[in-house]
Amino acid sequence: MPKFVSPPERLLRSAASHASASSTSTGAAYRAAFCAQTNKPLVIKKVYDTKQLGPSELRIRIRACAINFADILMCQGAYQEKPNLPFIPGTEIAGDIIEIGSNVTTFKKGDKVLALVNLHGFAEQCITDVDATWKIPNTVSYATAATLVVSYATAYMAFDRRAELKKGETVLVTAAAGGTGLAAVDLGANVFGANVIGAAGSAEKTALAKVKGAMHAINYREQDIKTEVLSITKRKGVDVVFDAVGGDTFEKCLRCTGFGGRLLTIGYASGSIPKGSYRFKDPKLYKHSIDSVVRLLGEGKIHPHVGASFPLNKINEAFQFIKDRKSTGKIAITMD
Ligand SMILES: NC(=O)c1ccc[n+]([C@@H]2O[C@H](COP(=O)([O-])OP(=O)(O)OC[C@H]3O[C@@H](n4cnc5c(N)ncnc54)[C@H](OP(=O)(O)O)[C@@H]3O)[C@@H](O)[C@H]2O)c1
Repeated sequence: MPKFVSPPERLLRSAASHASASSTSTGAAYRAAFCAQTNKPLVIKKVYDTKQLGPSELRIRIRACAINFADILMCQGAYQEKPNLPFIPGTEIAGDIIEIGSNVTTFKKGDKVLALVNLHGFAEQCITDVDATWKIPNTVSYATAATLVVSYATAYMAFDRRAELKKGETVLVTAAAGGTGLAAVDLGANVFGANVIGAAGSAEKTALAKVKGAMHAINYREQDIKTEVLSITKRKGVDVVFDAVGGDTFEKCLRCTGFGGRLLTIGYASGSIPKGSYRFKDPKLYKHSIDSVVRLLGEGKIHPHVGASFPLNKINEAFQFIKDRKSTGKIAITMD
C-alpha cells in the first residue's frame, strides 16, 4: 500500500487577517490592485499610506509579485481565507527596502529582498516583517525572486521532510510545467538526484519539463498515465508521486506507485482547495525550507522559470491566462 505522507495543507499562506489598504489623505501615493467585489475584475487604485513602521518591520518598494493559484481563488471568494472587502491580494513579493523599523539590524535601506506578506502584494509598496523577509543576490531578477518561495519551498519541504526522497528514486510529477510542478521537477532532478517523470497537459509543457530535468514525460491529455508509468518503470511503479492536480489525476497516480511508494498531495488545481498552513503549524520547518531554497538559488543550483510577466494594470489578463491553463512556471506581476 502506498503511504499518504502529505495532508492537503498549504505550505506558506498565513491567515489573511490584516492588510487592507490604508487610505488616508496624506503620505506618498502608490498604485495597488483591489478586489472590491469577489468574482469581478480587480481595480487599480491609488493608496495613501501613512502607516508607521513597527520596530521589526520593513517598508518595501515592490518590483514584482508572483501570482499564486490561491490569489485567484481568494478573489473568487472560493478560498478558505476570506478577507474583508475591499482587499489587495498578493502574498509573494520582491523589491527594495526603503525604510527600516527601529529594532532592525539585519537589513538596511537599499537591500534587495523577497518577502511573504499576508496580503497587499499586488501594489507598489508594502510593509513586511523581518522574519518573513530574505535578502537576495543582486544577480537574481525581481520576477525570479518574487516567484521562488511558494513553489520551491513547498516542493523542497515535500521531498525533504515528507517523502524523504533519495537519490536514484523515481518521482512522478503532475502539472509538471505549472508553478509548483516545475519547481518539483527542478528540485527532484537537480538537487535530490531523482529520476523524474513529468506529466503535463500538452507537448509544449512536457518539453519544458524535460528541459528542466525530467527524464521522461507523459502528455496526460493524450496518454494514459498508468500505462506509461508502468512501461517507463518496467512495471515497478514510482517511489514518489507529487500531485498538484487532484481529482481523476490523483486517482490515476494512486495506481502508479510501487511498493513503499509515497504520495504527496500538494494541491487541487482541478477542483477543491487545500487547507492549513505550515507557517503557523510548524514555523521552524517553514523557515528552514525557505532558507534552503533561497540558498540553492544563490548557489545557482535551481533555476526558477518565470513563464511570463504582466504589468500591474494587466493583472486581470494575467489571472485569466492562468485560469485558461496557458501559463508555464510562475507568472509575475511587475510594478514598472
Ligand atoms: N501545499 C502547498 O503549500 C501549495 C503550494 C503551492 C500551490 N499549491 C496548490 O497546488 C495547485 C497548483 O498550483 P500551481 O501554482 O502549481 O498552479 P499553476 O502553475 O497554475 O499550475 C496548475 C496546472 O494544473 C493543471 N491542471 C489540471 N487540471 C486543471 C484544471 N481543471 N484547471 C486548472 N489547471 C489544471 C494545469 O496544467 P496541465 O495543463 O499541464 O494539466 C495547470 O497549468 C493549486 O491547487 C495550489 O493551490 C499548494
